[in-house]
Amino acid sequence: MKGLLKFITCGSVDDGKSTLIGHMLYDAKLLFADQERALELDSQVGSRDGEMDYSLLLDGLMSEREQGITIDVAYRYFTTEKRSFIVADTPGHEEYTRNMAVGASFAELAVLLVDATQGVLVQTRRHTRICAMMGIRHMVFAVNKMDLTGYDQHRFEQIAREIRRLTSEFDFSSVYILPVSATEGDFLTRHSENMPWFRGHTLLDYLEHIDVGEGERADHGFYMPVQRVSRPNLNFRGFQGQVESGSIREGEEICVLPSGERAGVKEIYVAGKKMEEAFKGQPVTICLDREIDISRGCVVCKELKPSVGNLFTADVLWMDDERLVEGKNYFLKLGTKVVPAVVMKIKYKIDVNTGDHLPADGIYKNEIARCDFSVGEKLVFDAFKRNRELGSFILMDRVTNMTSACGIIQHGLRRGENLVNYDMEITRQIRASQKGQVPLTLWFTGLSGSGKSTVVNEVEKRLVAEGRHTMSLDGDNVRQGLNCNLGFKDADRIENIRRIAEVAKLMNDAGLIVLTSFISPFESDRERARDIIGSDHFLEIYISTPLAVCEKRDVKGLYRKARRGEIPNFTGISSAYEPPRHADLVIDTSKCSVEKAGVMVIGLIGERLKAEM
Ligand code: ADX
Repeated sequence: MKGLLKFITCGSVDDGKSTLIGHMLYDAKLLFADQERALELDSQVGSRDGEMDYSLLLDGLMSEREQGITIDVAYRYFTTEKRSFIVADTPGHEEYTRNMAVGASFAELAVLLVDATQGVLVQTRRHTRICAMMGIRHMVFAVNKMDLTGYDQHRFEQIAREIRRLTSEFDFSSVYILPVSATEGDFLTRHSENMPWFRGHTLLDYLEHIDVGEGERADHGFYMPVQRVSRPNLNFRGFQGQVESGSIREGEEICVLPSGERAGVKEIYVAGKKMEEAFKGQPVTICLDREIDISRGCVVCKELKPSVGNLFTADVLWMDDERLVEGKNYFLKLGTKVVPAVVMKIKYKIDVNTGDHLPADGIYKNEIARCDFSVGEKLVFDAFKRNRELGSFILMDRVTNMTSACGIIQHGLRRGENLVNYDMEITRQIRASQKGQVPLTLWFTGLSGSGKSTVVNEVEKRLVAEGRHTMSLDGDNVRQGLNCNLGFKDADRIENIRRIAEVAKLMNDAGLIVLTSFISPFESDRERARDIIGSDHFLEIYISTPLAVCEKRDVKGLYRKARRGEIPNFTGISSAYEPPRHADLVIDTSKCSVEKAGVMVIGLIGERLKAEM
């Protein structure tokens, strides 16, 4: 008996995917008696006038899934005498590309439906491209609704030629094209008298026999991402995870990434039992012969050498309603590790139809692009084509935690590998203690005209009067110098804030207390600034003065211009401001004098410094 086959079905909405699988299971007598009876009863009121509506079977599953589960992929398990199967059925709307990608990431084979009356559509191309991108090596194209073409051999052959032209662009290991009728059952589990001209396998027969070659995806030696460090008592310290590839034996030497430290394997436990060896797929606990620093997200490996770095190039399938812009900050989850990540550069967009590379400064939902990434700390990764697990990731929105994209790593970027931190002898601590203070960054955020600069001015005067060493960075000033090449589009604002955060950090390194006044309208950018500067030294102060008041003040006359449409992307008018949700201090200058605001901020600094002591 062949091993398990994991496959997905994909196609456009009315291509008949559910009917295809439902009918195949019914004909192959793979339904339980009660499911079969229910299907017969349901069909009497179904969409086919009392004829059996096989799609009801899977649609039922789907609606269960839809209740409260965001990703609508219906998994169904079935087994024949020859093989076991898991099939993921994914809705076909363009909207649902994300579901397809999720389904595809788990599958070895895809059954893609093509409507014989319509031929190869944009959707067919999109789905084929996503399958290829997600690492599916085996494709079956079921040219469906042959009954509606009068089982026309010419029509089938014409479509098959189009499909071959399409698949020749990709590097699939196998492509099988067959004519079927999902409703009538031709070539699902039995050959068809209606199409004596087709001599290939039936769909089920093909799925039962195809060799998707476990060995084909070369095994790259042992590796195991650490999911948990187990420490039941002082004498036992084990690292737990699933062996993703290869095997490991007692006594062998392993290497832990990203640190690169080595140790010998003292003991191996599989399901609580001590073993000499553990293999791919097994959940294990490994004990080492010496203490090394390992935590969740580290990777234990043997001869395998994935990359360790923080820069790489990857293809992303964008799933977020909000478009992707360069510089925006996300969380990236790869294996068991979650790190802050930024798209440094969108290199190009990939046309899903033609595969052409198009220039782009933003990516919209369902689009695919090749991008350069930078992540916040060194990560263990590999190219997806060598290693599916260490080569794929998801991006999550930092505020909503929703999945924004899935990504496939192409290669690492050397720029990161050849940079080494140089440790200076004069440290931040020395510089700070020479000034007799604890460096801090006071990050003021709020609308234009809210009073940020005024409050900063007041606070800085008070700090200097106390003998503190300070520096203030102000939007209007910095934009005329360091950031004179940046405007007010989202990507420019993101870069503006990134640079300011880096500069503030350097100034903190110099021992200074830094006060920044920038609108900094996006929450994810402020979060990133906090990451760059270090949350122990970062205080977020929200100047919450209402828009109406700022607009009435209109000190610089900019609101008036913006209302007249003379300034595009003006914050509060034609560009969003995301108020902080966890600010350390909120000050509304329409209700509070500058002096009072100054006292409040000085008070906040005092509290923070007390906590430091
Ligand atoms: S931020 O959004 O990137 O943080 P920043 O604080 O540097 O903005 O600059 C804001 C200042 O630039 C405003 O106080 C205002 O004087 C000026 N400005 C010019 N155009 C715009 C605009 N479209 N939106 C907001 N501010 C603008």
